[in-house]
Amino acid sequence: MSDAKIEIRGLSKSYSTGHGSLLAIDTVDLTLAEGEFVSIVGPSGCGKSTLLYVVGGFLSADGDVLVDGTPIRGPGTDRGIVFQDYALFPWLTVRRNILFGLERRDVPQAERDAVADRLIGVIGLKGFEHRYPRELSGGMRQRVAIARTMACDPAVLLLDEPFGALDAQTREMMQDELLRIWLDTRKTVLMITHDVSEAVYLSNRICIMSARPGRIVEEFSVDLDRTLPREELVVSEPFNRLRNAVWLSVRRQAVAAAHADPG
Ligand SMILES: Nc1ncnc2c1ncn2[C@@H]1O[C@H](COP(=O)(O)OP(=O)(O)O)[C@@H](O)[C@H]1O
Ligand SMILES: [Mg+2]
Repeated sequence: MSDAKIEIRGLSKSYSTGHGSLLAIDTVDLTLAEGEFVSIVGPSGCGKSTLLYVVGGFLSADGDVLVDGTPIRGPGTDRGIVFQDYALFPWLTVRRNILFGLERRDVPQAERDAVADRLIGVIGLKGFEHRYPRELSGGMRQRVAIARTMACDPAVLLLDEPFGALDAQTREMMQDELLRIWLDTRKTVLMITHDVSEAVYLSNRICIMSARPGRIVEEFSVDLDRTLPREELVVSEPFNRLRNAVWLSVRRQAVAAAHADPG
C-alpha cells in the first residue's frame, strides 16, 4: 500500500480534428503523494489543460488515472477543479455560486450557511454575496471560483492557471491565501501555471512539460522554508537559484517548440 493519492500512468490523449488526429499528451506518468503540491509548467498548447481535465474526469484518454488506488470514472466530489477561465454561473449570485455543489448534495441548510459565511469571509467578499458575477472584477470572480471549489472540501484540488488573469498584487494575495489553505489542510494539489516564480513559491515539486505532444521531461523538488515571509523567501539565494533553473528548463522547451515543425 503506497501513500499515493493520485497515480497517472501512461496517459495519452488525442483529439480528432478536421485535419485528422492530434496527439495532445504522450504517455505521461506522474504520482502525487497525499498532501503534496505539484505544479506543471510548460509552453502554451503543450497539453497542460488536457492533462488536468483528464485527471478531473471530464475527458477520457488512454492510460490510467487512479485516486486512492481506484481508477476514476468521470468527475467526482473528491476532486475539485478550478478552470482556466474560472467559469461562474452568471445567473447565480456570489453566495449561490459558492453553494452550488453543496445544494446538490444532502447537506443541512445550517451547515451550508456556515460554509458560505466562512468562505465569503476568507475570500474577502463580505458585502458582495448577493452580487452577480457580471458585477465583479476579474480578481473577485476568481476568488468566488476558488471558494466554490473549496466549499465541497475536496481531497484533491486541480487548478488550471488559477491566477493567470489577475493583476500582480491580487495574484500575490491569492497565492498567499492558497498557501495558507494548503498549509492548514494539506490537500493534494495539482496546479498548472506558466508563472515560474508562482510554481517555486507554492509547490513541493515542479514538473516541466515538453512542447506538444506534452511529456514530462524534467522534475524539480522544492525544499524551501515555508515559514519565511514572502519578502524574505523571494529574495533568498535558494529561491532564486531554483527559480533560475526552472526558468531555464521551461525556456529550453519553449525554444524547442519554436523550432519544431508546425503541425
Ligand atoms: N477539444 C479539442 N479538440 C481539438 N484539439 C484540441 C482540443 N482541446 C485542445 N486541443 C489542442 O490540444 C493541444 C493542447 O491543448 P491544451 O491542453 O489546452 O494546452 P495548454 O493548456 O498546455 O495550453 C493544443 O494544440 C490544442 O489546440
Ligand atoms: Mg491551458
